[in-house]
This record gives sequence, structure tokens and C-alpha cells, in this order.
Amino acid sequence: MQSVSEIKSLRSQIKAWRQQGLSIAFVPTMGNLHNGHFSLVEKAKTLADKVVVSIFVNPMQFGASEDLDSYPRTLDEDKRGLANFGADLVFTPSVEAIYPNGLEAQSYVDVPGVSMGYCGGARPGHFKGVATVVTKLFNMVQPDFACFGEKDYQQLQVIKTMVRDLSIPIEIVGVPTQREVSGLAMSSRNGYLTSDEKDTAKILFQTLSNAAKTLESGNKDFAEIEQQAKTNLLENGLTPDYFAIANAITLKPAKLDDQQLVILAAAFLGKVRLIDNLQVSL
Ligand code: PAF
Repeated sequence: MQSVSEIKSLRSQIKAWRQQGLSIAFVPTMGNLHNGHFSLVEKAKTLADKVVVSIFVNPMQFGASEDLDSYPRTLDEDKRGLANFGADLVFTPSVEAIYPNGLEAQSYVDVPGVSMGYCGGARPGHFKGVATVVTKLFNMVQPDFACFGEKDYQQLQVIKTMVRDLSIPIEIVGVPTQREVSGLAMSSRNGYLTSDEKDTAKILFQTLSNAAKTLESGNKDFAEIEQQAKTNLLENGLTPDYFAIANAITLKPAKLDDQQLVILAAAFLGKVRLIDNLQVSL
């Protein structure tokens, strides 16, 4: 596996592959890789001849009070994992390479609609940072496909909308969430949890599963289901940020005749903010 940190070297390798007629699938990450990320790499390998993974902890998507400085950075281990899973190239640019003029003067991409509410509401500017860095990375890698985890469901919809709205010629592929045996969605932020806290954290998935079963049984009292779920989270040591039943594509609050729904949830366990979701087809 090649490891490249200069944009120029990345571009020349991409050009060489293109001249050989090879297709490219891309997996953007912030590192601290776990099986969730590796499942994206596995999917990418089925889609294209070459798989490029980026590792870049993107300052533009972190709020002032968030965990940018303490975000786990495990580059050597990440590279070993990526090599084992058969990635062809890992791109590890510096902050200066991505934002040479700093963040203040940086042009940006804003995706209205799907960026609003949920994580976009709780983390102002977050999706602007995500959309901007993903656009930059897309322009550097110029892949045919890009894989994103369904765990960050709103992010996936933001990227799909952005690619459609801006006519970016890349197919966005969503990959199902990888879970611990307990059901807890894999996330780099799980590393902040003690084993007791992990036991509490799994309640988020259990609460989502119960809400999904209730919807599947034909109950459409969305407000009541949401309220019960929040109460359940609180009673079990989690502080709900949001728990919402939404249209799976627009992310607008679910309507009675919607058939493709998503239940989106975020909750705090101490300082750690956990997110998860489940899709429901009625
Ligand atoms: O999902 C992530 O890890 C990040 O938001 C992404 C897509 C790599 C952009 O920084």
C-alpha cells in the first residue's frame, strides 16, 4: 500500500491509474479506524480497481467546544489495518495542505435542507465543514465511487444531496453500520467509554430497535414513540439530544403516508455524544 501526504503525489498516482484505464473507489475517514471503516474499504474493493483512503481530522467540522485536539490519532495502526484490508493508497494530508489560507478565508460548500436539525442543529457549522472537505477531497482523488457509513445517516444524505445538486460525477455508496455484539454502533468515539459506560451505551440501539418494532407493528403515533424513547434513555443513564422519526430521504419529520422512515438518535453519556439510527420500511 502506498502512503502519500502531498496533494501533488496523490494527483500523479491518480493520473497514472487513469491512464491505465483503472477505476477508483474512495473512502474518506478521520482515522482511528475500526471495523466500521474496514467494511467501507471492503465494499470499495468490490466497486473499483483501486481503493484510496484518506485520513484527515478535519478542523472545519469541529465546533469550538468539541474534541478536535483530543480526537484519537492512531496513524501507524490505521495504516497497518488498511494494508491488511487491501487498500491501495492512503492519503494523509496536513491541515496546511488542505487549508493553506486558514479556515477564516476558506470558500465553503453549504447543503441546505438536509443539513438542518439533528446533528446539524446540535453542531452548527458541522455539515458545512464536512461538505467542504469532502468536496476538496473529491476534487483531489476524482474517484468513480465514494463509500460512507450509514451510521452517520444525516452526513450520508448531505453528501448524496451535494453530489446531486452540484453535478459531481461520483456515485455515493452507503454501507450498513457495523455493531458490537451488544448492538452498540462502532465509532471512534466509543474509545472514550469505560466498559461500564459501553454497557449503558448499548441502550441507545435497544431503544432504536424498540421504536422500529413499534413502527413496524403499525403504530404511527410518532410523537408518542419519540417521547417514550427519550424517557427510556433518560431512565437508563443517557441524556437524549434528539430522538426523531423522519422521512428517510428528506429527513423532514415523518408524515403518516411516508413509507421509508429513519429513526435518528443522539444522546450524551457524560461528555461523550453517541449517535445511531435505524431505517424502517413500512
Ligand atoms: O465521517 C467522517 O469520518 C468525516 O465526517 C468525513 C466524511 C471523513 C469528513 O471529514
